[in-house]
Amino acid sequence: MIEAAKERFGALLEEQLARIASMKANATPIDYATCKPIIIGITGGDGIGPAITKASKEVLEFLLAPAVAEGKVQFKDIEGLTIERRAQEKAAIPPAVLEELKSCHVILKGPTTTPQAGDDWPNIESANVAMRKELDLFANVRPVRVPDKGIDWTFFRENTEGAYTLGSKGIHVTDDLAIDFTVATTQGCERIIRAAFEYAKSAGKTRVTAVTKSNVIKTTDGKFSLIAKQIAKDYPDITLDEWYIDIMTAKLIDEKRRTQFEVMVLPNLYGDILTDEAAEFQGGVGTAGSANIGTKYAMFEAIHGSAPRMVKEGRDIYADPASMMRASALLLSHIGYTKESETLTKALDTCTITERKLTITGRETGCTCTEFAAYIMDTCKNIKD
Ligand code: IPM
Ligand code: MG
Repeated sequence: MIEAAKERFGALLEEQLARIASMKANATPIDYATCKPIIIGITGGDGIGPAITKASKEVLEFLLAPAVAEGKVQFKDIEGLTIERRAQEKAAIPPAVLEELKSCHVILKGPTTTPQAGDDWPNIESANVAMRKELDLFANVRPVRVPDKGIDWTFFRENTEGAYTLGSKGIHVTDDLAIDFTVATTQGCERIIRAAFEYAKSAGKTRVTAVTKSNVIKTTDGKFSLIAKQIAKDYPDITLDEWYIDIMTAKLIDEKRRTQFEVMVLPNLYGDILTDEAAEFQGGVGTAGSANIGTKYAMFEAIHGSAPRMVKEGRDIYADPASMMRASALLLSHIGYTKESETLTKALDTCTITERKLTITGRETGCTCTEFAAYIMDTCKNIKD
């Protein structure tokens, strides 16, 4: 038994060393200015995904109409990233779909159902996690803003390592002993921490907070923490502070303390948990968009799930597309359409915070995704540069 486990462990180590080699070989980021056209893949996912993705695509098409007319940007619809097709092919991402995704530069992706042990679906890996791995989308950037409470946070969640790397590859050594693994590499830590510092520098922020549990998870979190200290030396105008994840979750609800945080950088699982908590202050995960950025590809999504119950009850047309539209704003700024991104962000703030002429309730008491998209586009027209 131990021999079999050792053999599997050996194979996992080989895989990780190969991943390091690939990170080293693919470290230079793509320059979108050289992509003619920039191809934006749109994939609806399942559950409420298609409805909220369609509404967001309409808004993107509206804002990018001149760029499309000039041949600078092209949209590409990608079908098949649904739980039904994934279950049928027993694949986190069906190979043909993955190939299509790889033919795009950036992707707007609707939520996808993640099977869990004991439900009706085969226990395939999450499509999100698989896509982050396949396209090496290492930086999960999640902004959370609540202006009237002084909250302006940007989370840089490491997206390809930590407890997620081998999350589906743990070992049942015996009937009684189960082992999972967590992974940190020098390259993986460096690239996410540097991305957080670079963002802080360009956004005029003066503080980066690294969040780990390095007092207990000494090897991998310890590595993350040491590398953060090394990288901080390259940014003399930015202060690095370090917090443990447990006290950090507490401090996010400390009204005096929390407004001092600006940019947070953290390993995968802590980032997963902390960003849900953070989004709650903004109005819940339904309001938050998320960027998954790599050197070659980038994918933009909502941070919530696919809400299959809403579809069963025929309410998907009333789902809130704000998170996907926030993700669309991140997409625009990532490919260099900063002005369009700002316009969309301002329109979202107007339509969901200040003006709120239409409200989304998730049922027929509120507006539909399509009506909301029209409201956003009307608002964009009235926003002056
Ligand atoms: C997220 C989600 C995913 C994650 C799930 C759906 C696998 O919670 O994007 O935060 O854990 O990363
Ligand atoms: Mg999550």
